[in-house]
Amino acid sequence: MASHSFAVALFFFFLLLDLASLQVLADVVLEDGYTVTTVIDGHKLGINPHSVLPRPRSSDLLVLDSSGSAVYTVPFPIPGSEESVIKRFSGGVEGYSDGEPGSARFKKPRSFAVDPKGNVFVADKGNNVIRKISASGSVSTIAGGYTHSLKPGREDGPAQNATFSPDLELAFVADKCALLVSDRGNQLVRLINLKPEDCARSSPSALGAASIWLLGLGLSCLFGLLLGIVIRPYIIRNTGGPQQARIQRDMEALPNQSGEASTDSLLRHQKRNC
Ligand SMILES: *[C@@H]1O[C@H](CO)[C@@H](O)[C@H](O)[C@H]1NC(C)=O
Repeated sequence: MASHSFAVALFFFFLLLDLASLQVLADVVLEDGYTVTTVIDGHKLGINPHSVLPRPRSSDLLVLDSSGSAVYTVPFPIPGSEESVIKRFSGGVEGYSDGEPGSARFKKPRSFAVDPKGNVFVADKGNNVIRKISASGSVSTIAGGYTHSLKPGREDGPAQNATFSPDLELAFVADKCALLVSDRGNQLVRLINLKPEDCARSSPSALGAASIWLLGLGLSCLFGLLLGIVIRPYIIRNTGGPQQARIQRDMEALPNQSGEASTDSLLRHQKRNC
């Protein structure tokens, strides 16, 4: 009899557990309207995507293949059924070597970040360093270079002397011009300040501002020259007349005897400035 009531108690216990899990399910909100598609099939492309990022100023994707120690660019979307469009951007052979595109080697990189200029920063796990692949493809070590592979650690300071745990995640922070490093192995979040030239976008707005400034300068020069040419005969004609006094007053900075001399020196002045 006792065992029977125990069984009944057990039944209610599990019933309650079930109700509790139903309660959890009831809190799930299934929001419709989203779609999933596969855009890169690593089996077909012969790569092993570990991380992916959009490549700035391009429609390509950057794909980090950790096991292949390589970074690829892949058009997005891949046109038609073409699979030969994938390009190796850097790496491909395991090792540690900086330099020109093609000769660079990484060792099981685990995370990467990209700045608006197209520089790719790679947490090179196997070498315990942080690397930079410039937009043109040349590779350098920006942090951990002195201590690489020798010892993991948590040393801050000049970046080449810094040490990291092998388990890093990188993020680019545009308004700080910096890399944030989730140093998981050390339970730290760290920051690497980047150089202004790493972050400076060769933006059309900056170019635009410069060309507007140059245009303004050119127009003011031209205007000054034209003004000089236009008023010179007028002044010559009126040399000694009442006009001269007014123009002389207007050209206080050019203390000359005659109007002719004034405009000539005005022209010279303009030409010097332009
Ligand atoms: C960084 O490392 C180099 C090479 O080991 C050393 O010469 C230099 O003194 C170190 N700098 C600092 C600040 O630790």
